[in-house]
Amino acid sequence: MGKRRSTCQPRGGWNRSWQRFWPSWLTTPSCHPCRPSLARLDTFETTLGPPAMNNPSTAQQPLCVHVKGLAADYDILTGQGLLQRGAEHIIPHMKGGHGVIITDENVAPLHLETLLESFQAHAKAHPKAKPVRLDVLTVPAGERSKSLSRYGHVMDSLLALGIDRRTTILALGGGVVGDLAGFVAATALRGLPFIQLPTTLLSQVDSSVGGKTGLNAAAGKNLIGAFWQPQLVLADSDTLATLPERELKAGYGEIVKSGLAGDKALFEWCEANGAGVVAGDPTLLAEAVRRTCTFKARIVSADEHERNETTGRALLNLGHTFGHAFETAQHHEGALLHGEAVALGLCQAMALAVLRGSATEEEKQRVTRHLAQTGLPTTAQELPGDHGAPSIEVLLHHMTRDKKARDGKAAFVVPHGLGASQLERTVTTAEIRQVLLATGCA
Ligand SMILES: NC(=O)c1ccc[n+]([C@@H]2O[C@H](COP(=O)([O-])OP(=O)(O)OC[C@H]3O[C@@H](n4cnc5c(N)ncnc54)[C@H](O)[C@@H]3O)[C@@H](O)[C@H]2O)c1
Ligand SMILES: [Zn+2]
Repeated sequence: MGKRRSTCQPRGGWNRSWQRFWPSWLTTPSCHPCRPSLARLDTFETTLGPPAMNNPSTAQQPLCVHVKGLAADYDILTGQGLLQRGAEHIIPHMKGGHGVIITDENVAPLHLETLLESFQAHAKAHPKAKPVRLDVLTVPAGERSKSLSRYGHVMDSLLALGIDRRTTILALGGGVVGDLAGFVAATALRGLPFIQLPTTLLSQVDSSVGGKTGLNAAAGKNLIGAFWQPQLVLADSDTLATLPERELKAGYGEIVKSGLAGDKALFEWCEANGAGVVAGDPTLLAEAVRRTCTFKARIVSADEHERNETTGRALLNLGHTFGHAFETAQHHEGALLHGEAVALGLCQAMALAVLRGSATEEEKQRVTRHLAQTGLPTTAQELPGDHGAPSIEVLLHHMTRDKKARDGKAAFVVPHGLGASQLERTVTTAEIRQVLLATGCA
C-alpha cells in the first residue's frame, strides 16, 4: 500500500512553488474520501515485483512500435488503459526501486491518480516484492516551463530527493513536460533512466519519440538540449479524452505531416480516418499513433542524431520553416498552436512544390481539402487569434533566421508528390513570396 515517507518533504523556494501547484486533492485527504491512501502522495511506496503482464481476460493488448536506437532499443506502446496498468509496464524497466514523476499542473489532477493507483494495485498483488518509491514534481503548464530557471528548480528538487543513478524519471504530460523531464533525465547525475508517458496527441506522435529533449533559451526555442532516449513510451489513448479539441486537432497536423513527408499509406489512411481521429475515437487514435510512430521510428533509427542533411530527421520538418515563422511572429503564448502553424505550413509547402514542379495542383488541393475538413487552418486568414496574419516581410525575416537556415538562406522540406520529400536549400525569396501571397499573406 502507498506510504508516505518523511525524507522528501518539500523544502526551499522551488518546493514552495511545487506545493503551490500541487493539486489540492493530494494534499487534502478529505477532498477525496474515496481515496484516503492517496493523500499527500509526494512520496509513495509500492512494490517492485514480477511484471503482472496483461491478463488477456481484462486487458486490451496495446499496439507496439519497436524503435532501434544506437545505444538501446525501446518500445512505444499505444492503446487504451495503459496508465491504468502503468505499473505492470513500467516496473520491468525500473532498474532501482525509485521513480520520480514529472508532470504539469493540468495533467496531474487528470491522470496522475490513475498512474499511482496502478502502482497501488501492483503492490497489493505482490505484497512480498521489493518496495518502489515514487516522488512527484509538478511544474506549471505551458511553454514557460521549458526554461533554464524551471530546469534549475526541478533539478534542485530532484537532487534533494536523494536520487541515485538507478532512479527512473517518468514524464507524465505533453511535449513540454517530456522535453523538460527528458533533459533533466539526460543531465542529472550524467544520465538517468527515462520513461515517457505522453498525454497530448502531439507528444504521442512526435515529441516523445526520437530522443530529442530540451529547453528554450532567450535566443530561441529548443536551443538547449540533448539526445536522450527513453526506455519505454506509454501512449495511453484514454488520456486524450481530456485534451481540449483544439490541442487534439493541432496534434493531428503532425500526423498528416508524417504521411506527406514520407509515408503515402499514412496520408491515405488519414484521408479515410482523419475525421474519426479528430473526433476522439480511441481506437483510431491508437492506430494513428501506431502508424505515425512507426514512420518516425524508421526515420529516427536511420538518423538518430540528425546527421543526414537531406533525407533523415530533417524530413520531419516538413511545413515547419513556414510554420515556425508564423509561430515566431506570434508573440502571445497559446494564440497559435504549433500543429496549427504546421498545418498551414503543409499547405504552403505543397504550394511551393507545385511552383517547383515536384507536386501537382491536384495533390496540393487534396492536402488542403483534407486539412480543412479536419478543422485545421489552410490559409493565413484562417489562423486563430485576432491579430491578423504577419506581413510577408516579417515572415521572410524569421525564415532566414530559422535554426535550419544557413548563411541567411532558409531551408525547406519540399514535397515530391504525396508521401515523399526532400530538404532543399535552393528555394528563392521570389518563390517564398509567391507562396505566402497565394496562401493569404500580404
Ligand atoms: N522533443 C521533440 O522531438 C519535440 C517534437 C515536437 C514538439 N516538441 C515540443 O513539444 C512542446 C509542445 O507539446 P504539446 O503540444 O504536447 O504541448 P504541452 O505540453 O504544452 O501541452 C499542451 C497543453 O495541454 C495540457 N495537457 C497535456 N495533456 C493533457 C491532457 N491529457 N488533458 C488535458 N490537458 C492536457 C498541458 O498542460 C498544456 O496546457 C513544445 O515545447 C515543442 O517544442 C518536442
Ligand atoms: Zn512539429
